[in-house]
Amino acid sequence: MKILVIGGTGLVGSYLLPRLVANKNEVYALTRSEGKIEGIQKLGAHGILGDIRNLREFDKNLPDRLDMIVLLAMPDVKPGHRMTRKRKAELREETNDFFHNAMDLAIRYNAPIILPGGTSYRTEKDEIADETWPVLRTGLTEIGADTDEMVNQAIKTNRPRVIQLIYGKIYGNGGLFRFMYEMMAKGRSKIIGKGENFIPNIHASDAAAAIIKASEKMPVGEKFIIADDTPVTQKNFAFYMAALMNKKRPGHIPGFVVKLVLGKDFYEIVRMNCKVSNAKAKKILDWHPEYPSYKNGLEATISEMKEKKNYFA
Ligand SMILES: NC(=O)c1ccc[n+]([C@@H]2O[C@H](COP(=O)([O-])OP(=O)(O)OC[C@H]3O[C@@H](n4cnc5c(N)ncnc54)[C@H](OP(=O)(O)O)[C@@H]3O)[C@@H](O)[C@H]2O)c1
Repeated sequence: MKILVIGGTGLVGSYLLPRLVANKNEVYALTRSEGKIEGIQKLGAHGILGDIRNLREFDKNLPDRLDMIVLLAMPDVKPGHRMTRKRKAELREETNDFFHNAMDLAIRYNAPIILPGGTSYRTEKDEIADETWPVLRTGLTEIGADTDEMVNQAIKTNRPRVIQLIYGKIYGNGGLFRFMYEMMAKGRSKIIGKGENFIPNIHASDAAAAIIKASEKMPVGEKFIIADDTPVTQKNFAFYMAALMNKKRPGHIPGFVVKLVLGKDFYEIVRMNCKVSNAKAKKILDWHPEYPSYKNGLEATISEMKEKKNYFA
């Protein structure tokens, strides 16, 4: 297949590109950075220089045919910086452009597209959310509010043909997780509030494997939660990571301080509480996580981060 990956140099993309190439696909990866083209080529894919927000700048460099498009682009969010209303509005606009332009390309090429989402649900006690649950857009997750509508509309009209993969918090060697790793290494990690809230997780390699499965099965019009089997609280995830890195357990920081310093939008994301089911992905995509628990996933990630840099870092 000829596949275009938008965001192929990111955390999930760096696990996805080598697999797509190994499966004998002709892979095209878009990047805004000239410096990453060589890295893409070394993996056996074609690097295309461009910004998904400016289709006209690069579409002449795309092949005549595309059999599938994967959207993995994420706007640049600077961790540890205050989220202002202005920046949040910009991020929403950027996210809308990513979805709009990527879906536009899919229509133009008459190709199915795999779109990303996040597990923005709120569950209480033993409740477990599945794909039929309403998406709760609060805090920073509001930047994706318009894209929910775009995806639902595409599913209704089958134009373009979409599959949505709804990821838990993605961890692995790269992306935003590198910031968490560096904070922990410097002893500067903090648990926000009591840290007893549950946040779904998924290793980037398993997120990439779900894309491969979706491309093979092609269940157009369906949404799948992609998270591991083991619910864990914010606190226990951080404690386990600290233990693996031989660091002191991070201390707590009161929620109101985080709200004051980083803004309410960021605070809302880290205090989210939800448990999710991955049963649909297992059943229909025949996807089974290689890292069913954050424990074995973190063990692999921490040793990988110590040993080698991400292809594109
Ligand atoms: N990370 C999470 O916890 C999480 C959770 C739920 C859902 N998701 C979604 O899952 C997807 C993958 O996440 P990730 O963590 O792998 O992302 P990531 O590591 O932050 O990677 C971001 C990617 O987006 C590309 N990008 C950003 N702006 C672009 C633009 N204007 N034009 C073209 N490419 C652009 C970057 O490419 P260049 O810099 O090379 O141009 C990079 O490859 C994203 O869509 C994200 O929203 C992530």
